[in-house]
Amino acid sequence: MIKIAPSILSADFGRLGSEVEKVEESGADWVHVDVMDGVFVPNITIGPGVVKSIRRFTKLPFDVHLMIVEPERYVDAFADAGSDIITIHFEATKDVRGTLEKIHGRGKRAGLSINPATPFSVVAPYIADLDLLLIMTVNPGFGGQVFMTECLSKVREAKRHATGIGADFDIEVDGGINAITGKLCVEAGANVLAAGNALFGCRDMRSEIAQWKRF
Ligand code: DX5
Ligand code: ZN
Repeated sequence: MIKIAPSILSADFGRLGSEVEKVEESGADWVHVDVMDGVFVPNITIGPGVVKSIRRFTKLPFDVHLMIVEPERYVDAFADAGSDIITIHFEATKDVRGTLEKIHGRGKRAGLSINPATPFSVVAPYIADLDLLLIMTVNPGFGGQVFMTECLSKVREAKRHATGIGADFDIEVDGGINAITGKLCVEAGANVLAAGNALFGCRDMRSEIAQWKRF
């Protein structure tokens, strides 16, 4: 089953509550929340206070993508704010395992993400501890970028690895996902599609999501 996670980075921040309601009404599975600190990536977005404020607008799981350095310092804050899945970047912490344990310790699902330049091999040792692997298909920081086709081989590699060891975790892709690139990612082994511009920029989010779910 393909899961669709619209990224509210492309939503209207002036009315985030109703944008989150729209995501749920459109048949999405998760709400993808992009947290950026201006250090790990050049952009700054939202913090736990905003996550807490929008929590009451939907029952959908919050898929919180932390693009921040030392994410271990903020696990508690994002857990308290109502996150369901907390994903950290491999490149952003010296303590990947400890941070994943901390997320699980808070009863949340733990995700690990890698940038386009980071090979799959570095996260292979953590696979058994993961609920989700987030493969970036653009360099993180901004919505609306062009999908990097070369990342598809990493999706295939992750899927092969998962099948080989009988591991059951979500493989999510994020960045430049649309009706064409999303299908390529699903064919390569991804089962969660995060997308901002293609979903918030289309005329009918509901029919777009219904189409993507048939990939
Ligand atoms: C990029 C973010 C993505 C972003 C995707 O750094 O992690 O989640 O919102 O936006 P699109 O789908 O427009 O590339
Ligand atoms: Zn994201």
